[in-house]
Amino acid sequence: MSLLTVHNLSIVARGRRLVDSVSFKLDAGERLGIIGESGSGKSLTASAIIGLLPAGLGATGSVRLDGHEIIGATERELTALRGAVAATVFQEPLTALDPLMRVGRQIGEVVERTERRAGRPHGKSDIRQAVSGLMDEVSLPEPERIAGAFPHELSGGQRQRVAIAMALACRPKLLIADEPTTALDVTTQKEMLALLARLVAERGMTLLFISHDLPVVAGIVERVVVMRAGAVVEEGPVRRVFATPVHPYTRELLAAAERFDRALGAA
Ligand SMILES: Nc1ncnc2c1ncn2[C@@H]1O[C@H](COP(=O)(O)OP(=O)(O)O)[C@@H](O)[C@H]1O
Ligand SMILES: [Mg+2]
Repeated sequence: MSLLTVHNLSIVARGRRLVDSVSFKLDAGERLGIIGESGSGKSLTASAIIGLLPAGLGATGSVRLDGHEIIGATERELTALRGAVAATVFQEPLTALDPLMRVGRQIGEVVERTERRAGRPHGKSDIRQAVSGLMDEVSLPEPERIAGAFPHELSGGQRQRVAIAMALACRPKLLIADEPTTALDVTTQKEMLALLARLVAERGMTLLFISHDLPVVAGIVERVVVMRAGAVVEEGPVRRVFATPVHPYTRELLAAAERFDRALGAA
């Protein structure tokens, strides 16, 4: 059964169509990538899926998430779905973190909310234990020190791991990762991809992985949707799209990635 069905999703701002009749499906347990150059509408599509479009933008069409229609849903309905059904990790982990709160407490608040919602209120020591389990799961070293740190005291990679731990604390069915490695250096990027791949497999989560970087997506998803200027231009199994891209834009993306790799190799 499909966990997410996006059908003819369009997003408009003051008469400008930013996302144009996008449709795709994501089955439970599947890993789907959305690729496309910057500005192609990937993040807006992700925002519409969780019902968090920026002010002034309107969406039409349908987004069915775990049996619920998102387009036109009330804030109350959306609050119940966010986190529990879908949790998001963004490019810049600082957007997800409170700069003035120690990270252990931030993860703990999500644990507490999730367990309370599920009718399993946790005491302080249960929460502390859950937080340390999550930090371990995302391979954060020295959990004691990091739990007591403020976001600015951590590295970019560590902050992204904290953001991932907070997403996991929601126990989501669907994890949406919007350019989660773009702000990181190449080595940290690789670690982050391996971490996400492991977590998705271990927890049996469904994954929507968004990136402008085709090789990054290819390592982690089974199927890709290629977006350009707000529209889907190609979709298919990742191997097929790589081996025999049909749309000229996909070929262009592949050629650019190859040129980049060659340049790196030559350096
Ligand atoms: N809040 C907004 N108001 C108006 N236009 C926006 C807003 N957010 C994004 N856009 C525009 O919508 C298009 C798609 O943006 P986005 O989904 O962020 O692209 P991507 O994530 O693929 O880089 C871009 O042209 C962008 O400038
Ligand atoms: Mg984006």
